[in-house]
Amino acid sequence: MTPPANDPAVPWWTGGVIYQVYPRSFADANGDGIGDLAGVMAHLDHLAGTRDSLGVDAVWLSPIYPSPLADFGYDISDFTDVAPEFGTLADLDRLVEACHARGLRLLLDLVPCHTSIHHPWFVESRSSRSSAGRDWYTWADPAPGGGPPNNWISSFGGSAWELDPASGQYYLHTFYREQPDLNWRNPEVADAISGVLRFWFERGVDGFRVDAIIHAIKDSQLRDNPPAGGPIPPFPPDPSGHDPVFTVDRPEVPEVIRLLRRVANEYPGRLLIGEAYLPVERLARYLGDGAGDGFQRAFDFELSVIPWGAEPLRSTIERAERFTPPDVEPTWALSNHDLSRHATRFGEERSRLAALLLLSMRGTLCLYAGEEIGMVDGPEAATSLHDRFGRDRQRTPMQWDASPTGGFTDGDPWLPLVDPEERNVADQSRDPGSLLSQYRRLLALRRGSAALRDGALSLVHDLPPDLLAWTRTADGERVLMVANLGDAPVTVDLSGIGSQADVVAGTGSRQGSQPLANLQLDPLEGLLLRLWKAACLRSVL
Ligand code: NOJ
Repeated sequence: MTPPANDPAVPWWTGGVIYQVYPRSFADANGDGIGDLAGVMAHLDHLAGTRDSLGVDAVWLSPIYPSPLADFGYDISDFTDVAPEFGTLADLDRLVEACHARGLRLLLDLVPCHTSIHHPWFVESRSSRSSAGRDWYTWADPAPGGGPPNNWISSFGGSAWELDPASGQYYLHTFYREQPDLNWRNPEVADAISGVLRFWFERGVDGFRVDAIIHAIKDSQLRDNPPAGGPIPPFPPDPSGHDPVFTVDRPEVPEVIRLLRRVANEYPGRLLIGEAYLPVERLARYLGDGAGDGFQRAFDFELSVIPWGAEPLRSTIERAERFTPPDVEPTWALSNHDLSRHATRFGEERSRLAALLLLSMRGTLCLYAGEEIGMVDGPEAATSLHDRFGRDRQRTPMQWDASPTGGFTDGDPWLPLVDPEERNVADQSRDPGSLLSQYRRLLALRRGSAALRDGALSLVHDLPPDLLAWTRTADGERVLMVANLGDAPVTVDLSGIGSQADVVAGTGSRQGSQPLANLQLDPLEGLLLRLWKAACLRSVL
């Protein structure tokens, strides 16, 4: 199975757009109420290959592996198989082939830092203190007075240590107690995970989103985390009031990444995107030194924590441009399966502008299934129907049509749908004014424009408070993005950039040439304008 052609000088992920599918919630082909690989296969036209497709570059599937579902797929009991509810390895092979046939890449989720307690590796490790696999996980004796070995806490709350009564020792778990942490100091673990990567690469998979990498290594002496209170607030925030210096972003983590990348480099054109929940100035270490030894990309999650507003967005982009290494680009997403959807977070009325902003940013972009039709979080009451950490609201099934089960399933959906009658792919496909049509147009524009796809980004300074603007420039093409994030009309003088420019896309119906000296923007209006040649030349001279 050959992946689509790749230009090593400008790999497909440069300015590329990845579409994240949460497989349980995308499309159910066999009526059991749970999404599956056959469902993804049946909806590939939505993603790529036809005139009406979104036209994304890749699809990333959140975990498809067998899992006892303590963390809904992120507690894996077999890294090299497909969960029966999703299908079979043969289905996955067919999906890879079908994606490649339409020029689409397929990425999987690699979860290298923990397994399920039911994974045979942990079953063996737990079997006795003298098990050959004991050191595949982190085991420690109780603290001298009894209780957990130290003060480390789990990202999901409570101690990060769980007592195994049979052996009298505790094992470490950064997430749920059903997800024991693998011990990356043990070379056998490194070999085993390398084998997992090779298994999927051999099947034609184009890369991985790499889960929770900042937690790969912890302090070897198991020292207590110190109380927070230094000049830099702890990140991620630690509700126990400690600074997670001994558990997160340890100096050895880049070694782990180097090892993963070495394996990926055995297979040309494969991508590793790190999920590294850190401020952007701490991401560079994860991106290697340009010699192909780090992740090619790492998510910058600042967009998902900032409030709506021109200033927070401007400074987020400014920081990303400043701290992202020169041979790498930022990686942006507005929503994912862990976060409140941005249509809910920012407000539905802002979805159209949010799309225009995202799709004109510099970097590799990630869309979360459903955001193209403006899906919102499920109701409060549906927060923890399944997920103990309360993330069900952002994982509700995709809304394909207006029927009660949204065309997602013929059966009983595993999570209730939110509002298929109000927003769905079928209705929005027919409406040129819909959000979906806007996504399609913006994606087509980005694909066809060197400036938007991989041009340099330059922020415009000294604007009125609610305004945000940047230019993207490549190969003599220059595009201006200007947006009013506020609720009142604004007039701005952008004559320093050019005198006239043509609207090529916008949140409203505005078209034609606009005078930049006196540009009026409605509330929540955003425009993409192509600068006239003369203006380009002027700026070059
Ligand atoms: C990050 C994943 O996105 C999240 O869903 C999961 O719970 C944790 N990592 C643990 O794997």
